[in-house]
Amino acid sequence: MFAISLGADGAELRPLEPWQAEEFLAHIDRGREFIGRHNGLPDVITDLASSRAYLTTYAKKAAADTGRIFGIRSGGELVGAILLRTMNVEQGIAEAGCWLEPSAAGKGLVTRAVRVVIDWAVEERGIHRVEWWVSSANAPSIAVARRLGMTKEGVLRDNYRYRGERHDMEIWSVLAPEWRAARKTP
Ligand SMILES: CC(C)(COP(=O)(O)OP(=O)(O)OC[C@H]1O[C@@H](n2cnc3c(N)ncnc32)[C@H](O)[C@@H]1OP(=O)(O)O)[C@@H](O)C(=O)NCCC(=O)NCCS
Repeated sequence: MFAISLGADGAELRPLEPWQAEEFLAHIDRGREFIGRHNGLPDVITDLASSRAYLTTYAKKAAADTGRIFGIRSGGELVGAILLRTMNVEQGIAEAGCWLEPSAAGKGLVTRAVRVVIDWAVEERGIHRVEWWVSSANAPSIAVARRLGMTKEGVLRDNYRYRGERHDMEIWSVLAPEWRAARKTP
């Protein structure tokens, strides 16, 4: 199966498919508390059936060309994922997302992996605008958006109810010309 290198430390970006549901569940279990701080994913993936259902949703999105999921691996182990949660090729708009289990955080893996996926979306699929939706309380994810050169477009106040509390939701984005210009800058 193909793998894209994410740098000298042997980390890789690889496809993530429904047959890997057991491994995916084990990964979510390792990161459940950390990933769930601002993100409802761990509440969705609770057992093997829901893990397979989640990956099947993304397999169907890939078939319909409306989204993608890729796994981040370190030393062969699944430690995170990058999503194109939505992708509208006709409109040229996609929304990216990500997570890591705690052992893989703080190494730049997500920033490098999202760059690969945005490169693909922009250069191969003609996506013009890549969005990043993030809770205002999620400083590490906002830092990723900044590192990617995204622009904060606005705040949807109290838009996101999570674990009994309402949160502001920020929308960040990068446009294809901005992405290309930034990629040319050393
Ligand atoms: C959001 C999340 C993926 C960010 O993880 P992260 O490890 O901070 O992000 P990166 O992989 O890009 O790594 C950047 C960090 O690695 C450090 N780093 C080390 N080597 C690096 C390198 N070669 N290149 C870039 N950064 C590097 C950076 O300094 C930065 O650390 P800092 O924030 O302490 O300065 C992570 O916090 C997470 O999974 N959270 C839970 C799920 C979630 O909220 N997802 C987002 C929903 S919108």
